[in-house]
Amino acid sequence: MLETVADLRAWRAAQASGSVGLVPTMGALHQGHAELIRRAQAENSAVVVSVFVNPAQFGPGEDLSRYPRTLPRDLELSGGAGASALFHPSADEMYPAGFSTRVQVSGVTERLEGALRPGHFEGVATVVLKLLELARPDRVYFGEKDWQQLAVVRRMVLDLNVPCEVVGVPTVRDTEESPGLALSSRNAYLTPDQRVRATVLSRALRAMQAAYAGGEHEVGALLGAGQAVLAQEPELSTDYLELVGPDLQPLTGSLDAEVAAKARLVLAARLFGVRLIDNMPLLHF
Ligand code: PAJ
Repeated sequence: MLETVADLRAWRAAQASGSVGLVPTMGALHQGHAELIRRAQAENSAVVVSVFVNPAQFGPGEDLSRYPRTLPRDLELSGGAGASALFHPSADEMYPAGFSTRVQVSGVTERLEGALRPGHFEGVATVVLKLLELARPDRVYFGEKDWQQLAVVRRMVLDLNVPCEVVGVPTVRDTEESPGLALSSRNAYLTPDQRVRATVLSRALRAMQAAYAGGEHEVGALLGAGQAVLAQEPELSTDYLELVGPDLQPLTGSLDAEVAAKARLVLAARLFGVRLIDNMPLLHF
């Protein structure tokens, strides 16, 4: 296990002859993370997984102190999925006394999660840029589960000429007790019964895909189809349900085929005190 900046730099220097994949995480690893690691392993000679619960991306009143920490299991899961190294720095190692720099991406950060979690994407961009600088990967892997985060990282890497390919990996969903539920470290806050009820998010998105496939092309009516499913769960409170384009801009009116092909359904809601997000393409392939 690598714990310091010096450790990671030394590990990177030893990989000079091959390609390196980086998988940034906050730990409490599950099969969604494992999928990122397997993909990275298939495409690179060596893979480093970072496990760092990044204080800079949590707002006051969010779940920083209770965020699940399962390092021994994370080591096992990441090794099993093909990681060559795990970087687990302390907060002081990443943000030593006097740390004063923040990476601010505008545009794609301003709506949805960015509007509801002020400073969140600044914290994400700052830590991801630091990890990219330290690991100097050829490829970095992010889940589509956090659709807006993926857009923010793509923007930053492009804008700052980071010599790294950003790879987006489709969302891994539960196939057993709570079928369709997007895997998330935060699902651990829910009981098994609550997780079954949380499948309402993916069911709402699927209903919208089905409505579009059935010939409904009006954004208002498509959103209505999703809202009708969400309304079946009385404990759920929706933060947003939108249909957005590639720059996360809201789509309205009647969709033509070209716009629909790139449209994404994005959803955030709170259920039993836990904030859940999910998204899907409008077109179900
Ligand atoms: P974390 O929530 O641990 O997620 C790490 C990576 O795993 C992210 O790219 C996320 O999109 C991906 N992921 C999570 N659940 C997934 C699922 N069900 N299917 C596919 N991929 C999934 O996202 C973060 O950490 C942090 O913001 C981080 C980027 C590490 C910066 O601190």
